[in-house]
Amino acid sequence: MRFDVISVMPQMFDALQQQGVVGRALQRGQAELRLWNPRDYTSDLHRTVDDRPYGGGPGMVMKYEPLQAAIEAARSGRPDVKLAYLSPQGQRFDQQVATEMAASGEDLILIAGRYEGIDERIIERNVDQEWSIGDYVLSGGELAAMVLMDAVIRLLPGVLGAAESAEQDSFMDGLLDCPHYTRPEQIDGMQVPKILQSGNHELIRRWRLKQALERTLQRRPDLLQGRRMTAEEEKLFNEIRAASGDAEREQEQ
Ligand code: ADE
Repeated sequence: MRFDVISVMPQMFDALQQQGVVGRALQRGQAELRLWNPRDYTSDLHRTVDDRPYGGGPGMVMKYEPLQAAIEAARSGRPDVKLAYLSPQGQRFDQQVATEMAASGEDLILIAGRYEGIDERIIERNVDQEWSIGDYVLSGGELAAMVLMDAVIRLLPGVLGAAESAEQDSFMDGLLDCPHYTRPEQIDGMQVPKILQSGNHELIRRWRLKQALERTLQRRPDLLQGRRMTAEEEKLFNEIRAASGDAEREQEQ
């Protein structure tokens, strides 16, 4: 899967290319990243990529011509490649979208904007998808593009080893993750839950699922709305409910 990113700050992507699981995947050729700087497609002395907004107001807007030229260079020879723009106005990017992108394996051109935004005609002419990584405003789309690529690339075949498998990730089954522990068994008066040392894989699996359900109920009940539960989850969920009811009644007494 190849990503082409249009950005006036290509150095920001050094970390993604050099570090961690994604850096390793890019170095192994399991995914590809190419960067295109609109500044390289300017023709004036100052290599201008932004200009004042029509209608007035604060901030600058990214100009059409250098962006369009960079997009065309990135798209060269691939007329059907999809193009996504990162912005707070986009649809919410989540684990399900990441999973679908990784499963399709289709190349993607990403536009990372700066300043107040990009000339709307770029969007009109080129953009197939617009993604937001959350309801907050970043100073540019680069971090959002890296978030998207990280979430997708780690799901590509062979990127995570068996020991790092994505199946157990938070959200992969629509729930938050369970707690994790490693050695030592006891530290600063805190103990690893006994069940994790029992060696009983079935009990451990059930405990983890119950913890995941409990955390999701406490921290992100919105994730449970409209989610289909398995019979086992239903049973564990009722146990959690009953226990929290007991706790409330105890508090009242
Ligand atoms: N650019 C600036 N803020 C953003 C956000 N929240 N998501 C995606 N792109 C952005």
